[in-house]
Amino acid sequence: MKNIESKLKESRSYKPNNTFVAQSNLTVNLLEQLHKSYKNDSDAFWGKLARQNIDWIKDFKTICSGEAPFYKWFEEGKLNVSENCLDRYINKNKLAIIHISEDDKKKSISYDDLYYLVNNFSYALKQQGLIKGDRVIIYMPTTPEAIIAMLSCARLGLIHSVVFAGFSSESLQNRINDCKAKIIITVDGFKRNGKIIKAKETVDQALSMGCPSIRNCIVFKNLKNKIEFNKNIDIYWDEILSSKQQIVKPEIMSSEDLLFILYTSGSTGKPKGIMHTTAGYLLNSIITNKWVFDLKENDIFWCTADIGWITGHSYVVYGPLATGSTILIYDGAPTYPDVDRFWDIIEKNKVTVFYTAPTAIRTLMKLGENLPDKYNLESLRLLGTVGEPINPKAWVWYHNKIGNSNCPIVDTWWQTETGANMIAPIPGVTKTVPGTCTHPLPGIDIGIISDDGREITKANQGGNLVIKKPWPSMLRGIWGDETRYQKTYWKKFKNKYYVTGDTARKDEDGNIWIMGRSDDVVNVSGHRLGTMEIESSIVSHEYVAEAAVVSYKHEVKGEAIHAFVTLKNNYIDYMTPEFAEDLRYWVKDKIGSIAKPERISFSNALPKTRSGKIMRRLLRNIARGENISGDTSTLENENILKQLQNIL
Ligand code: WT7
Repeated sequence: MKNIESKLKESRSYKPNNTFVAQSNLTVNLLEQLHKSYKNDSDAFWGKLARQNIDWIKDFKTICSGEAPFYKWFEEGKLNVSENCLDRYINKNKLAIIHISEDDKKKSISYDDLYYLVNNFSYALKQQGLIKGDRVIIYMPTTPEAIIAMLSCARLGLIHSVVFAGFSSESLQNRINDCKAKIIITVDGFKRNGKIIKAKETVDQALSMGCPSIRNCIVFKNLKNKIEFNKNIDIYWDEILSSKQQIVKPEIMSSEDLLFILYTSGSTGKPKGIMHTTAGYLLNSIITNKWVFDLKENDIFWCTADIGWITGHSYVVYGPLATGSTILIYDGAPTYPDVDRFWDIIEKNKVTVFYTAPTAIRTLMKLGENLPDKYNLESLRLLGTVGEPINPKAWVWYHNKIGNSNCPIVDTWWQTETGANMIAPIPGVTKTVPGTCTHPLPGIDIGIISDDGREITKANQGGNLVIKKPWPSMLRGIWGDETRYQKTYWKKFKNKYYVTGDTARKDEDGNIWIMGRSDDVVNVSGHRLGTMEIESSIVSHEYVAEAAVVSYKHEVKGEAIHAFVTLKNNYIDYMTPEFAEDLRYWVKDKIGSIAKPERISFSNALPKTRSGKIMRRLLRNIARGENISGDTSTLENENILKQLQNIL
């Protein structure tokens, strides 16, 4: 932790404007009360919020029970998430979803429509013999049907695992087999950048590699492109729907029943199936939508995240729908047919709250700095970012050009594991500073801790970002791997704190600045990737002996991947740019486009310690064009550094 020191200094700060303050869900007083009431009695605080925000079938008896790292929330409470998202908002003539396809077809779905669609699909799933607790993989782009599939699972108590539709067949197969899913739901195809992506073909490949648990594949005819139809497994979505409207009573779920599993990268080759439960997850996603996004029933909330990520779960589907607002979903590329697509959608649909990733902001800023000027973006009242630290230049552009210098920006820090925003400004209250996610939300007890376990109180000193007290939407574990759960998130400080894996510092005003990861995880375009996962995929190539993956700063992606590779003796002739290109595509096929290394360099050996550990720190220096820093005395083969440096 010695090297962590901050070089960023940002003096600009922004107060929320009066119009916003006058209507915001939280005020200075209300926020203060929330913080106070948490401090006085954390159980009473959470219990009250849970009763205010969730419709319970049966009230709970305890608030937080159990011991680290196995906490339980709202035991004996009974509820159903789909009921909270749908049943309580019907008969109100309210719009639930505005869907824009890449080729600009618009579909509007009311809460009533959505309720009936979900009920009908739930009935169909039930007819397939699925029962509470069964796992269902959803491999679909962000369309209404994907949301219908998620909510239907929730209605029946089936545990869904949405797999990002850009993932390769191998990544898909791994996830199916890890959670032993019975059913996979997919589409024939979808469009990205004008091209047809044949999702069903990827599913076929995954199944052909072996997925013994899968009984059926349900295919929604999205594009009506030709697919291979395997009679033994495949069924069409529209053919299993009952011809008359069915109503399915929501399954009575216990608070701690699993709602979903979502896979995320860790520092080993194997992704982790993060488990989220029913009540706790729902509560934090509702309150953060109200507090941080200031959501109200007349908002049109566009969160650009794909449903394959946690952001899509909490801020496209569950949170906003359980809050009763209208969501906009766009199922296409941000730059198709042109780089002003986002601004066009905002103008045409009068989006009020817009939430996207710094990488998207940087891309759109780079490709069309002044394009937003052509659009009327006055409907916007609040902007958000997530996924990685946002650089102040992009923040200010976002503020001036998209927000017309009028909209608060909420920079929200959280993780797949936390389920919902943990550190973020309260838009009607918090003074924002470009580049910081500001303060912890009420109920979230954040600490910055040195490696030896001491709380760091000195301003601007970096340390491990931890969460000191349990919270309702915390992960309940890793599917099928309790030991890994304990090791990854709790061991470092002996079960005392939840370890986020991030490093951070607090400035003089108490603003929290995220500094990066402390493990072997890189953040490319706001997506978390385990370097080990990429290394294993490179090493699985027949010609490759060893690989080490590090990241370097990239103008648009935030971080980009540099892979250092050595080849087996009989293949050293392949140390060519052409083979480097082949390897990049190899990784893309194995994991997905987002993991494709930006750079690959070959060398005769990798720098190692005498005990054989690859010294990634040195490779990082090289990739980042820095001087080799720190001690190299443990290096076994010092002359290799010269060769590595020459390559770049
Ligand atoms: C990691 C979590 C949470 C949804 C998107 C990514 C980084 C996330 C911020 C932010 C700086 C951020 C952290 C975190 N991160 N938000 N506002 N500022 N860094 O979810 O894939 O679970 O990744 O993303 O490093 O640990 P995820």
